[in-house]
Amino acid sequence: MSTLWVGTSWKMTKTLAEGRAWARGLREHLAGRTPAGVQPFVIPSFTATTAVAEELGEDSPVLLGVQNAHWEDAGAWTGEVSVPQAKDAGARIVEIGHSERREHFGETVETTRRKVAAALRHGLTPLLCIGESAAVKEAGGSSGFILEQAGGALDGLTADELSRVVIAYEPIWAIGETGRPATVEELVDPFAALGAEYSGKVTGLLYGGSVNLDNAAGLLGIEHVTGLFVGRTAWQLEGYLELLRIAAEHAGS
Ligand code: 13P
Repeated sequence: MSTLWVGTSWKMTKTLAEGRAWARGLREHLAGRTPAGVQPFVIPSFTATTAVAEELGEDSPVLLGVQNAHWEDAGAWTGEVSVPQAKDAGARIVEIGHSERREHFGETVETTRRKVAAALRHGLTPLLCIGESAAVKEAGGSSGFILEQAGGALDGLTADELSRVVIAYEPIWAIGETGRPATVEELVDPFAALGAEYSGKVTGLLYGGSVNLDNAAGLLGIEHVTGLFVGRTAWQLEGYLELLRIAAEHAGS
C-alpha cells in the first residue's frame, strides 16, 4: 500500500506563538518517529515557516510546506515569494492552485503549470490542488473538469517529474465553513477518473474538504485515495494527532 500523506494547511490563521506551540507539540508527540505508513506534513502561512521549521527540528519526519510560491526564482514581483526562498526557509512542499487562490488571486491553469515546474526545478514537491464548483458538479462535469485542471498543470512533465507530484482533489463545494462534507459515494467517480490517469504515476492522490474525525477513515477507504489534506479539523493539534492515528490504523489494516 502507498504511504498515506496526511497534512494540514493553516491557511491565513495562527500567530507565531500559536504556530510554534502546535509544531512543538507535534514534535514531542512524534519523538522523531514517523508513524508507520504515514507521511505527515504541515503548511503554515509564510510568516511562520521558519518558526515551524525550528520547532519541528532537523531531520523531522514532518514535511514543511508553503501555501504558494512564484514561478520565477527572483525579481521585481512585489508581495510574492519564490521557490528558492521557500526552500531556504525550510519548505519541501509547495502548495499550488488551491481553489481559494484560483477564486480570489487569479490563479489559472497556466500559472499552476509554471509553479509546478518551478517547484520541481528546485527539488520541492508540488502539491497541486484541483476541484470543481457546485455548478460543475450539478451539471455532471466533475471528473472532466478536474482532469483538465490536472492535465493542464502537469502538461509536459516527464514520468520522473510526474512521480514527484502530489495531487489533492478538493471539491470547492466541500471546503471550509460554507462547504458540506462529501459522501464517500460522491467521491468514488472522481477518484476513479484520477486513479485511471495518475495512480502509480504520482506520489499521492489526496482528498481534502471538510475532513473530520468521523469521516476520515471512510475517505481513506475510497479506491485510489492515498491521503488527506485537512483544514479546520487539524488546526487544533489534538485533531491532527487523531487524524494521524486514524491514518496509521488504516495503513496497518
Ligand atoms: P477544510 O478541511 O477546513 O474544509 O479545508 C480544506 C482545505 O481547503 C485544505 O486545503
